[in-house]
Formats: sequence, structure tokens, C-alpha cells
Amino acid sequence: MLIAVFDIGGTSIKYGVVDEQGEILFSSSLHTHAHLGGLQVVRNVIATAKELQRDWPIVGVSVSTAGQVDDRGRVIYASDNIPAYTGLHVQEMITEHLNLPVVVENDANCAAIGEHWKGAAQGIDNFICITLGTGIGGAISLNGKVYTGSAYSAGEIGHMNLYPNGKPCSCGMNGCYEQYASSRALQMLVSDRLNEPLSLTEFFQRIHVNDAQSLQVYERWLDDLTIGLKSIIHFLDPQLVVIGGGISEQGDRFLEAIKDALYPKLMMSHARNVQIKLAEQGNRAQLLGAAQNFFQFKFE
Ligand code: BGC
Ligand code: NA
Ligand code: ZN
Repeated sequence: MLIAVFDIGGTSIKYGVVDEQGEILFSSSLHTHAHLGGLQVVRNVIATAKELQRDWPIVGVSVSTAGQVDDRGRVIYASDNIPAYTGLHVQEMITEHLNLPVVVENDANCAAIGEHWKGAAQGIDNFICITLGTGIGGAISLNGKVYTGSAYSAGEIGHMNLYPNGKPCSCGMNGCYEQYASSRALQMLVSDRLNEPLSLTEFFQRIHVNDAQSLQVYERWLDDLTIGLKSIIHFLDPQLVVIGGGISEQGDRFLEAIKDALYPKLMMSHARNVQIKLAEQGNRAQLLGAAQNFFQFKFE
């Protein structure tokens, strides 16, 4: 059984074809044009899904997206960062054009499902997954299931306040965590402080050769990232925190840097217990999680 999967983020839409074993048979991406609004984003998904439907015998479509999604996997309950996305009946719109069953779920929730299925959280039923990208997403996995909250908004850690009266956020508030600790925030800090248009890959190369100015920027960012992680860990006492998003592909040295910044901030009981891991599936976690979410979904 093959399905088409989509991951709608702030800057790109990743997509692919996945089977029930979690094999990604094909994947690609396109530019989001998120600023054009939710309708345009969904139209892009529909057009791409139709192409996939021509080339592959897909039996369904599963969508991972920024924003909060109702628990029947249908409607964008609310979205602060894609304009005019709130209230869109994404499931119905795609089903109408493809005549296939469709499920929609929040992207960080999908990452958690993906990492539980095929990644760093295999066999672990109580954990937190955070994704660092354009924004910061969060998922709380309790007893092997994602806890969605009462307004489908549990785990919206990107909009926790880190600095009162801080930088403006796409959600309309100020000082949100994702404005300081997302990978985009790191990218902005890099171009601000180093006055050079470095990619994050180039930036990490400088970190690896201990470039003093780059290390300063890195420490600033790691400190903000781990101030937020500290609060999350103190509040939920998870067994494991999985850190995902494309930046998780930076590997062991990145993980060690996070741990070095985090552990001294934790109360002793947490410091002794909590494990921190990078997402093993990197950016694929959302696609795999969307697939697994579809395969396990109880359609009415
Ligand atoms: C959104 C979340 C999303 C996260 C990652 C945040 O800005 O509010 O819904 O999971 O970005 O895309
Ligand atoms: Na979430
Ligand atoms: Zn915000």
C-alpha cells in the first residue's frame, strides 16, 4: 500500500511516496509560497498530489503541516504563521480533487510519530519531540500517543515567551521562543553578527574549526535553546527529548553542544534522568510520521 505524504513548512513543502514498511520510495520538495496564504499552499499540494497519483498507485494522502489541526485530521483549527490558513478544510479539499482518503496532522506531532516508529524514540512511550526549522514545533507523546490538548494546541512551544517585549513573532506576540532558538533564528543571528551571508552548513564548518566569532554566536543561540528546553523538561519530566528538523543532521558534535549547555541548567533529578537525542530521521521524520498517522488512522 502506497500513500503520498506532504510536509508543509514555512519555506518549503517536502513530499514523497511511502509504503507501509516506512520505505520512502520517492521524495522531492517545492517552494511553499506560504506568504500567498493557506489556499495557495493547499492548491500546490493538490497539483503535486495529482502528479504523484499519475505516477504511483497511491491509495491515500497524508499531510503534515505547521499549525494546529483538529483531531479528526481535517481542518486547520488555527494557524498563526500561514496567512488565511485557519479554518481551511484541507482534508475535504484534497479528497474532492483526488478522490482518495486524506488525513492532516501538525508537523511536530508527525515528527514524534515518525521518530517513535522508525527513529530515536523507538520503544519509548513518554517523550517530547521538538523540531527546529523556520519555527519551533513541539509534540508531547504520552503512553505512546501524541497528546493533543483541548484546543489541539498542546506542544506549541515555539510561542512560549522567552523574552518579555522581545522580537516580534508571526503569531502577533513578542519574544517567542522560536524567534530565538529555531534554525531560522540561528541563521538570522549568523548574518547579523558575522556580517556574512553564510549558510548554516558553512557556519557549522566554522564551529568545527573553533572560529571565535562563530562560537560566540553559537553559544548565544544554544543558551536560548536550552533555556526553553529546561522549562519543558521541568514541566513534563520526560524520559527523552528528541530534537528534530534539518539541523539535527549536524550530528554528534551538535548534540554534545546542546547537552553541555542544557545539563547545568537542570535540577539534579532531571539532569540524572532525561536523555537528549537528535532525530534519527532528520527532516524525513515528518514524512514518515504522516505516513504512519495515515496507516493507523481510524477512518469513519
Ligand atoms: C507553529 C507550529 C508548528 C511549528 C513548526 C510554529 O510556528 O505554531 O504549529 O508545529 O511552527 O513548523
Ligand atoms: Na505539536
Ligand atoms: Zn509567536
